[in-house]
Amino acid sequence: MTTDATQRLDELRVTALACTACRLSEERIHVVFGDGNPQADVVFVGEAPGRREDEQGVPFVGPSGKLLDRLLGEIELERADVYIANVVKCRPPNNRDPRPDEIDACKDYLREQLRLVDPKVVVTLGNFSSKLLLKVDTGITRLRGTAYEWWGRHLVPTFHPAAALRGSSQVLEDMRYDFALVRDAIDGNLDNEADEVDTGVSVEPDVDPEQLGLFNR
Ligand code: URA
Repeated sequence: MTTDATQRLDELRVTALACTACRLSEERIHVVFGDGNPQADVVFVGEAPGRREDEQGVPFVGPSGKLLDRLLGEIELERADVYIANVVKCRPPNNRDPRPDEIDACKDYLREQLRLVDPKVVVTLGNFSSKLLLKVDTGITRLRGTAYEWWGRHLVPTFHPAAALRGSSQVLEDMRYDFALVRDAIDGNLDNEADEVDTGVSVEPDVDPEQLGLFNR
């Protein structure tokens, strides 16, 4: 990322902090814009801030964040190495799901964050970010387990850490598998087809970014 891009990311944060584009602005304590290394090779995209994140203005600082940190450590990454953002930047009341109009109102921020950080790998955590970025209706259970070519980079969809915290140990094992794919993608070791798992999901392997609506040049 160039200095110019870092500055534009800062400016975008300032704009987001004053955003009133949807009803989520009414009850928020903080806008949780995003956090981490603006030059990261990897961007993680969650769903929406929870209570702790709303209180602190930083993504993934609650229990899900602790698990995320652990999984990062297992592939020799720290918070300071990655950039983390969410689909919506303000906490939905009582942690309800973000609504389509809220996602719509917020998605330009995410688009710009991804474009400015320009990572090698995007990791979508859970259904909301995976469906939004891959533009599919397929659930995360079927999407995960592979790295997709996406906008000239790799996109690795995996479960949201909250699913591992409330689910079976298999969810955590699946996340470990996906995080290993992230490590391979960073290291440039995904070229071998054998590294990729065929989930049988009918996602175009090389999605036309124009159709994604997230990256209109
Ligand atoms: N869950 C998310 O999706 N994002 C956060 O920042 C925290 C919890």
